Amino acid sequence: MRKDLLTVENLTDTDLENILKLSELMKRERLTWKRKSLDGKTIALIFSKSSTRTRVSFEVGIRELGGNALFLDQNDMQLGRGETIEDTAKVLSRYIHGVVIRTYKHDDVVELAKFAKFPVINALTDEFHPCQILTDLFTMREFSGKLKGVKVAFLGDCASNMANSMILAANLSGLELRLASPEKYAPSPSLMKMAEESEKGEVSWTDDITSAVEGVDYIYTDVWVSMGMEDEKEKRLKELKDYKVTNEIVEAAGEGVRIMHCLPAHRGEEITSEVIGSHKSIVFDQAENRLHVQKSIMTMLLDEDWKDILEEG
Ligand code: CP
Ligand code: NVA
Repeated sequence: MRKDLLTVENLTDTDLENILKLSELMKRERLTWKRKSLDGKTIALIFSKSSTRTRVSFEVGIRELGGNALFLDQNDMQLGRGETIEDTAKVLSRYIHGVVIRTYKHDDVVELAKFAKFPVINALTDEFHPCQILTDLFTMREFSGKLKGVKVAFLGDCASNMANSMILAANLSGLELRLASPEKYAPSPSLMKMAEESEKGEVSWTDDITSAVEGVDYIYTDVWVSMGMEDEKEKRLKELKDYKVTNEIVEAAGEGVRIMHCLPAHRGEEITSEVIGSHKSIVFDQAENRLHVQKSIMTMLLDEDWKDILEEG
């Protein structure tokens, strides 16, 4: 595993297996877990976008691992008044042991990681959401017992941070991913090229939502108006309206399909309330698993004896 987790692009098969195994252990033994991997360590959470799951699951996870969580709103920092990311990274390196950052430009997170002595964990940028997608892989493996060949249909904004992350996750894990959207919201050509060149995973795109969901194990969707895109709201709701996850779409997928959403959901927009509340929906399992998977990631990045924990487990 590298120093930072910025996307899942550079993770190896072994990294993924270790993250998933350690997450399983963290989940199973949460109530009796003794090892304080973050003892004496302070992890700063620098957020410039809203969050419920990510903020709370990181803060709780840091405490459960014996560390201190320091929440910082990016706009209250000198960063918000023009101090450079480089200087911020160098200063923070004198105080703290890790940063979890949620911001707009992915390059800002790359820049922070470049100058920081501590591990940087991307908690969502406009382009990627690695903690969410690793959790989604964990959740799919929990329900399906495997990842290779598991069929997932991603519906809606296929150029979003979640769709981008799902494409990289398919390359990493061997998922069969079918993306469906209007042409205007088609996936990034460079990520699709990367998927084509990848030895694992099968990634395709269509504008036909019904054929995309046929026979899949999971239907995945995300909001149509991601954070920072509020000005485009009206236009997006109109242009994406035929890509909503409804009962009809769930039925078209066939028996056994499960419904995933990274949340927050905008019920009635990308998904109906009925579908999200149905027995096929595993969205709250996904939300819970954020805690276990992020504890595993932090342990692997910040506890030099993490391999012993895995072996002993
Ligand atoms: N899924 C997710 O990252 O949720 P929050 O925006 O609430 O953190
Ligand atoms: N695509 C969404 C994900 C939220 C977790 C957004 O960026 O707002």
